[in-house]
Amino acid sequence: MATNRTFTMIKPDAVAAGHIGGILEQIIKSGFKLVAMKYTTLSPEKAGQFYEVHKERPFYGELCQFMSSGPIVAAILEKDNAIEDFRKLIGATDPAKAEVGTIRQKFAQSISANAVHGSDSDDNAKIEGDFFFSAFERF
Ligand code: PPS
Repeated sequence: MATNRTFTMIKPDAVAAGHIGGILEQIIKSGFKLVAMKYTTLSPEKAGQFYEVHKERPFYGELCQFMSSGPIVAAILEKDNAIEDFRKLIGATDPAKAEVGTIRQKFAQSISANAVHGSDSDDNAKIEGDFFFSAFERF
């Protein structure tokens, strides 16, 4: 059953470019409620753990290096049909292929520096949210 929650990160490229406000505004105006949020940094080791599911993929090293290259914003979001609606809102992984008006089309630079992460399943949303937030940090 859908849990109506998803997990997101505003990635180092978008934080560095000053897009935290613009991205959060679009997320909230699209009907997502913030359940938890933090401004933090991933060490290379922590990035490696978070993306362990991709460790066999050719871009794993680059991805972990990029995700630990500067501050990020991590958040848990709530909305009916959260996983699917959020992935629609952020657009395709490659911003060149993202629909007009999506967050990646507006704020991302490239397939690696692509502004935001969105969980791909209810199970992963729970795992990823628990990775960043302890029980007393979220409602
Ligand atoms: S997804 O969202 O899991 O369906 O996307 P996927 O294409 O499988 O990519 C998984 C994550 O890897 C990032 N990615 C890349 N990083 C660097 N270089 C290349 N070429 C590349 N391709 C994909 C992509 O942004 C996904 O990161 P997250 O944080 O999950 O969005």
